[in-house]
Amino acid sequence: MTGSVIHGGWGFPPLLTFVVPNRLCTNYTTFNKPNFKPFGQQKSAPLTISCLSDKALTTSCLSDKAVTTAASDHNYGNKQVISVTPRIYDYLLTNVREPTILRELREETATMRGSQMQVSPDQAQLLAMLVQILGAKRCIEVGVYTGYSSLAVALVLPDSGILVACERDNNSLEVAKKYYERAGVSHKVDARHGLAVDTLNSMLENGEGCSYDFAFVDAEKRMYQEYFELLLKLVRPGGVIVIDNVLWHGKVADPLVDDKKTESIRSFNRALMDDMRVSISMIPVGDGMTICHKR
Ligand SMILES: C[S@@+](CC[C@H](N)C(=O)[O-])C[C@H]1O[C@@H](n2cnc3c(N)ncnc32)[C@H](O)[C@@H]1O
Repeated sequence: MTGSVIHGGWGFPPLLTFVVPNRLCTNYTTFNKPNFKPFGQQKSAPLTISCLSDKALTTSCLSDKAVTTAASDHNYGNKQVISVTPRIYDYLLTNVREPTILRELREETATMRGSQMQVSPDQAQLLAMLVQILGAKRCIEVGVYTGYSSLAVALVLPDSGILVACERDNNSLEVAKKYYERAGVSHKVDARHGLAVDTLNSMLENGEGCSYDFAFVDAEKRMYQEYFELLLKLVRPGGVIVIDNVLWHGKVADPLVDDKKTESIRSFNRALMDDMRVSISMIPVGDGMTICHKR
């Protein structure tokens, strides 16, 4: 199974192993099979659960039926926080309204190299909803791949809207363009092949500063701070920038992990905490996303 697996190791023997839900997790393993069943018709994946433990948390991992993590620290009011098991995530996916064209794109992408990079249907649904709530007309995506998240956004943009879609890999961008065409949204997507930093800089040189409503970042992790600074210039006050993979398969929370990508996302997350140019909300959807609202 692809996905992040965290083993317990906090003072008691690991009874179980909990598979951290992210876009690499069970459903994507299922999706990667050409004949996967639609959401809600999948058999539950065999479940291994590991009880995580640290100072602030007590975890009750009884079975897949009831897995909750309760903060025992008074500062968190003993709040019960759900740990999403494969079964719960399957259930969540049965409650995602995925347009047929997105499902078809997901199925085609599942046969391709790098399919685990695609955002999950629940993430795409959230991005689309943010765009709708904002009433966004001008959007940017950094990191298109085969176009799942960009298509989800383009589908909800008004006819006069535009999404600048930045991608360095032409092969995957061609797949995305095919689906924009099939979905009847190509007139709303300005697909830019090349390095995203170059595209964003050229947009600024073109006088497009503060003219965008929404941006989504899902590309090179070590460039996050640079993308963010450029997007802050391109997005208007009141606009939204969403950053993907901020939990980085849970590695950011593991002090023993110090590879360059993890360190770089950690330092980006730290910098965002102190960045008063935006209000922020980090949410554990997919591989973790931070929603930044420009002040
Ligand atoms: C995680 S995938 C994007 C997934 C996409 N949002 C989706 O839902 O399918 C990241 C993409 O960013 C692209 N990428 C990485 N670095 C880039 C760069 N410097 N400029 C443009 N695209 C880049 C990669 O080629 C890859 O297709």
